[in-house]
Amino acid sequence: MTKDTSNQMWGGRFAAGPDAIMEAINASIGYDQRMAAQDIAGSRAHAAMLAKSGIITDSDAKAIREGLLTVLSEIEGGRFEFSTALEDIHMNVEARLKALIGEPAGRLHTGRSRNDQVATDFKLWVRDQLDAAMGGVRALMQALLTQAEAGADWVMPGFTHLQTAQPVTWGHHMMAYVEMFGRDLSRFEDARKRMNESPLGAAALAGTSFPIDRHMTAEALGFDRPAANSLDAVSDRDFALEFLAASSICAMHLSRFAEELVIWSSAQFRFVTLSDRFSTGSSIMPQKKNPDAAELIRAKIGRIFGANTALLMVMKGLPLAYSKDMQEDKEQVFDAADNLMLALAAMEGMVKDMTANRESLEAAAGSGFSTATDLADWLVRALNMPFRDAHHVTGSLVAMAESRSCDLPDLTLEDMQSVHAAITADVFEVLGVHNSVASRVSFGGTAPEQVRAQVARWKGVVG
Ligand code: ARG
Repeated sequence: MTKDTSNQMWGGRFAAGPDAIMEAINASIGYDQRMAAQDIAGSRAHAAMLAKSGIITDSDAKAIREGLLTVLSEIEGGRFEFSTALEDIHMNVEARLKALIGEPAGRLHTGRSRNDQVATDFKLWVRDQLDAAMGGVRALMQALLTQAEAGADWVMPGFTHLQTAQPVTWGHHMMAYVEMFGRDLSRFEDARKRMNESPLGAAALAGTSFPIDRHMTAEALGFDRPAANSLDAVSDRDFALEFLAASSICAMHLSRFAEELVIWSSAQFRFVTLSDRFSTGSSIMPQKKNPDAAELIRAKIGRIFGANTALLMVMKGLPLAYSKDMQEDKEQVFDAADNLMLALAAMEGMVKDMTANRESLEAAAGSGFSTATDLADWLVRALNMPFRDAHHVTGSLVAMAESRSCDLPDLTLEDMQSVHAAITADVFEVLGVHNSVASRVSFGGTAPEQVRAQVARWKGVVG
């Protein structure tokens, strides 16, 4: 970074340059240089529009547009010297343009302000992140669908309170996450639609007296339309908040799944084996294979929640329109976006590589009296017993099995009849876990046929 003594962009009113501390607190170039490509795209669209509207000459517009491409290639090639004294990416680019092309550079800022400029740059940047997040979520959903299809009829315990509840299928469990990530996908899509209005040309806050064409710049930058209120256009950060809010929910889903993978890969569960590619070892304990990627996903998502809260805090006290507080919007969003993309990619990699241990899942599925509800339902169906009574009879049978340290199917018919005389041998059919899951054919239930129907439906969406 170089240091200039006075500011070329607004120095006219000032007798002295800023204090070093002022410069340090004011500068955003250290991070907003990430928006260089967006800043240059916005300026190129603005210059073309100024010429088309007769506000600057065609030859000035040509010099500006070509000069900006040179600046971009210098930045992308790492040959650009960023200056803290020039505060931010907007003024760094414009100053360099001036050095390259001279006087026409000074005409670029006609009919705009850094307030609409930064809002435009940041929107374009966030829009790219929304697209990237949607790509990452889709890829993860595809990996989950592959797992679900392979194990549509593999049985495992379903839990409530992390206590064995009823048997479910592996495919059903994978598809629960497909539903969650499907909602995340639709939240990102929805946010993208709502945010896609151009702030450019709102100028400082009130619009401009120059005959600009905001529809033209909106279209050139891929926006659906210009934002309809100039005050709102420069002071709106909803688009970044919606990105963070949708990212936070998605991150929460990633974290829940990461938590399950940590539990499932433990020696006590052995439900899944994570690949070596997504695990690490211990420097002292040779037997260890740790689910670090899952743990780091679980931990890193905290940054995304933090960014969401931080930006809400920045915004909540601001009167209209722009305040410099809003410069504090970017770092949080950059960090959240980086970590969301990393977490999505790591989860996709883990899911793709992960092996479900079918035997362990099946052995666990039958333990913990997981078919007790099936037994109670049988009593209702076969003996026309009120469900509350059936629940009570089943409870007595569970207590009996527990006292003998066996599972429900290990009880004899005589044992059963000692609790309720009318029970017949047919009952044993519903005590097996495969029959249990196959019977749950209600829409959205765990039966393999229901799971396969949902896999087919989602393949049509993200396949
Ligand atoms: N660097 C500033 C930001 O990120 C650009 C806008 C500055 N506008 C102003 N009126 N000082 O918000």
